[in-house]
Amino acid sequence: MRNLYTHPRRLPLIAPSILSADFANMGQECRQVLDAGADSLHVDVMDGHFVPNLTMGPDMCRALRRAIPDVFIDVHLMVADPGGFIEPFVEAGANHITFHIEVTAPENVAGLAARIREAGATAGLALNPPTPVDAVLPHVDSLDLILVMSVNPGFSGRAFIPAVLEKARDLEPLVSSLQRIQIDGGIKPSNVQSVRESGVDLIVAASAVFGVPPVKRAEVIGVLRGTQALP
Ligand code: DX5
Ligand code: ZN
Repeated sequence: MRNLYTHPRRLPLIAPSILSADFANMGQECRQVLDAGADSLHVDVMDGHFVPNLTMGPDMCRALRRAIPDVFIDVHLMVADPGGFIEPFVEAGANHITFHIEVTAPENVAGLAARIREAGATAGLALNPPTPVDAVLPHVDSLDLILVMSVNPGFSGRAFIPAVLEKARDLEPLVSSLQRIQIDGGIKPSNVQSVRESGVDLIVAASAVFGVPPVKRAEVIGVLRGTQALP
């Protein structure tokens, strides 16, 4: 299946995570970052079990789809039971769903990815900083993207863990031009160059984008993408 995430890209894609948006003005915040050049919206779903925080569910996805009909919605499931949420999120408008290897038995990865595609979205597999890259290597061919977590998930604004870039370097020769290497956590204008150089071509950022005033966001997105120099 082809969508924005599975077309060959020359430039990295930028996916602002709405976790750092102003929740009281969500529609306006999302339209603003898309107007500022963002490629998609990254929706961080946390269940209070896999990670020690609670965020949002399919209803947020549905509201975004209704408010911005053509937006690409990238759902990151940080939940203990990803299988329970695939159809609800795709029916609510998700274009892409990523689940975690830490809560998925190796023999179930391909099946979950197939279910995501049958529902109508593309599929990603995430690994946390302590998880070795070997855990995802056998599954690369079944997925549209691998998400290398660069913080321990749960909250925005945590410090980037540079050692995870080694995993992106290991993955880079193994993915096709139709597959992405995504990174998520602590990405800032000050560290993004090393991230892009590691082979990452899909960059999630919450606080770096939503934590600056709206008028500065186009510049931040350009710097993250590498099309604009550091201010
Ligand atoms: C990790 C989430 C991330 C996080 C990124 O808990 O999956 O998407 O919110 O936030 P920043 O970019 O602020 O580190
Ligand atoms: Zn995320």
